[in-house]
Amino acid sequence: MTDTVRTWWKEAVFYQIYPRSFLDTNGDGIGDLKGITRRLDYLEWLGVNAVWISPVYRSPMEDNGYDISDYRQIDPVFGTNDDMWELLKEAKRRNIRVIMDLVVNHCSDEHPWFEKAVAEPDSEEAGYFIFRKGKDGKEPNNWRSNFGGSVWEALPDGRYYMHTFSAKQPDLNWENPKLRKQIYDMMKWWLDKGISGFRVDAITFIKKDPEFHSVETEDGSRYPIENFENYPGIGKFLEEMKQEVLEPYQCMTVAEAPGVPESQLGDYEGENGYFSMIFDFTWDQFPEGADKASAETFTAWREAMIKGQLLAQKTGWCPIFLENHDQPRCPDKFFRAEEIDGKNITMLAALYFLMFGTPFIYQGQEIGMRNYPMKSMSDVYDRSAHIRFQEAAAAGTTEEEFIACLNEKGRDHARTPFQWSAGANAGFTDGTSWIPVHPDFRACNVEDESGDADSVLQFYRRLIRLRRQEPYRDIFVYGTIEFPELPGKIIGYKRKKDGREITVLCNFSGEAAEPGASAPGPGTEILLSNYENRGIYDGRLRAWEAVVCLSRQIRDQK
Ligand code: NOJ
Ligand code: CA
Repeated sequence: MTDTVRTWWKEAVFYQIYPRSFLDTNGDGIGDLKGITRRLDYLEWLGVNAVWISPVYRSPMEDNGYDISDYRQIDPVFGTNDDMWELLKEAKRRNIRVIMDLVVNHCSDEHPWFEKAVAEPDSEEAGYFIFRKGKDGKEPNNWRSNFGGSVWEALPDGRYYMHTFSAKQPDLNWENPKLRKQIYDMMKWWLDKGISGFRVDAITFIKKDPEFHSVETEDGSRYPIENFENYPGIGKFLEEMKQEVLEPYQCMTVAEAPGVPESQLGDYEGENGYFSMIFDFTWDQFPEGADKASAETFTAWREAMIKGQLLAQKTGWCPIFLENHDQPRCPDKFFRAEEIDGKNITMLAALYFLMFGTPFIYQGQEIGMRNYPMKSMSDVYDRSAHIRFQEAAAAGTTEEEFIACLNEKGRDHARTPFQWSAGANAGFTDGTSWIPVHPDFRACNVEDESGDADSVLQFYRRLIRLRRQEPYRDIFVYGTIEFPELPGKIIGYKRKKDGREITVLCNFSGEAAEPGASAPGPGTEILLSNYENRGIYDGRLRAWEAVVCLSRQIRDQK
């Protein structure tokens, strides 16, 4: 049943910032902390009241900061620690909470711990990492990294170290209590500085099969992670982290936790979970080459989404989101290129934003930013894509085929500079941006959209206001959710609390449609629509229309 314990993070609207691509204030082409502080007024105007900042710690930037070489220092490319304290102060003044990324499955091979561990095999630091001897001149086992290739990298002295991601991201050894204490101390240090929580990176990889067994696969190309993803015994570490840090600090967490089965959701999130909530990455996965406009794709996706929502309602809580820094832009994810317009982008926004859980908006999503058209590997900045390409090319994949795949799923789409204006470099930098600006910035940017009542940006603003506004907030945050049967490509849900009810109806097609008997009756008041002049619901939905209706019960109570 719905979790009724009230907390700030259930009521919050989160905004994810990828600092490198948000706003550059010193002309080096890379976004920085001062850029975030400068745009807090924008975030306040938009209506969000919590931000998640992707990693800004000192880093060689192999993985744009997800490879940390000093957990307590801001990387010079983003500014200084003082810039961070200033950002926290200014955010607090605007009642905006800040959470940071917690990347503790691995650090950087340039972290002093790892440098010492390599130089001195008997040092305490050597115990912070996972070293093994090779077998018959080969890697210790057949485990494969998330970024391609073996998880093992050889050192000149014959040892191998394990890395779940790139070889420049050595995994930390969570079996070592001294290492765990270092991590907890670091978390407390940041919480004492005034952050409100963490987005927890890749956390289900911290426990490995202690015997490091190879995984038998029928097909050698399979991706064997069973022995180091959500491996039994991981709960001991997560429970300890909860007792040592998260509970005493009342620290909010949203975790990236791949591989958690349905039966364990309650261990991970909700009232008794290790974390406040975990991301569900299963609901928007389309099969390779699926026709996004087909009825089959729509039905499969709708079912997955409904299942995820009902499960979350049962376990207690979840984040709701359409994008992040690893995913393509949502219009391209859900619609065919030729059918994308402001109407289906705003319909998608209404669809997810009022569901059960805490909404997250990824930077640029609120103005309708789109996938970047990549033509060759020289348009690709994501290191992990280059590592994967090397491996795919060796197995016979052509550059053209690989680029076609990246154009669908690549991570760079989310990382092009934020589009502030139609001016030079979309107003992101006075210099040369580290990654090219999307060619559509003259039509899609904050400056123009903020002056256009019909824009994607203004729609997001209205949505945010509606979700946070009394008396509806209570229904959207703490109400139950149910999904009535609806015909064709219509999807919708009812949010209910204390006898009050709101219905959201979305037409997932470019043809007008009639939701039929399970929808509210004609004459129901519309609270929000992505069409103009929609005061009263008339029983019909226009192309790509989304309507948020007040149910009769509420009207009758007035
Ligand atoms: C997940 C992060 O979201 C991604 O960007 C990163 O590459 C990996 N974890 C490794 O930290
Ligand atoms: Ca900069």
